[in-house]
Amino acid sequence: MSAEETLQQIASEVSACTQCSLHTTRNKSVPGEGPANAEIMLIGEGPGHNENEQGRPFVGAAGNFLNELLAQAGLKREDVWIGNVVKCRPPGNRDPLPEELSACDKHLERQMAALNPKIIITLGRFSMAKFVPGAKISQVHGQMRKVNGRFVIPMFHPAAALHQPQLKTTILADFGKLPDLLDVARRELGQPGPAVVVPKEELPKDDPKQLKLF
Ligand code: URA
Repeated sequence: MSAEETLQQIASEVSACTQCSLHTTRNKSVPGEGPANAEIMLIGEGPGHNENEQGRPFVGAAGNFLNELLAQAGLKREDVWIGNVVKCRPPGNRDPLPEELSACDKHLERQMAALNPKIIITLGRFSMAKFVPGAKISQVHGQMRKVNGRFVIPMFHPAAALHQPQLKTTILADFGKLPDLLDVARRELGQPGPAVVVPKEELPKDDPKQLKLF
């Protein structure tokens, strides 16, 4: 099965999932979305009101700000994969309970295995706790580290940063570092980035070998 087919399969299992009580109050489950070959996987907390209506992650105010943050890194939403630690809305946007997190973790682990992203960005404390338990976001935000062979960058949650001018500046700066961090991850993982196709007419005339194509 291709990564894309596996992700579709997980999404259909998520939509029929009854492993925790959140399925009784959800409108739509939110499995996550993005290209199966995304280099970056962003993991938020859980669907809110708008996500529960639409079945898509980060489509409300926090989502608009997330789009802005991605633009800061020269990325578009379609370039990355976006999901959450829990796939169904906790009523009234309460924190997800331990049993909900653990029931939903099976889906997330399979999504991570299928995507095999170069970088995982955690958004908020619940996804950070999965990878860097006990860390304080004020101390580790924007820093890339390797966890179980994967590069992880904890970031502030966009919803938290949206209304706090100081945090907003910080999270914008953190996302601004992403292109450099992605280069580091690509080098460390020994995998080049996507193929760059340079039109023939743009090749330097004197010494075409100097242009590094990969
Ligand atoms: N906040 C999250 O953590 N996830 C969403 O999908 C939307 C808002």
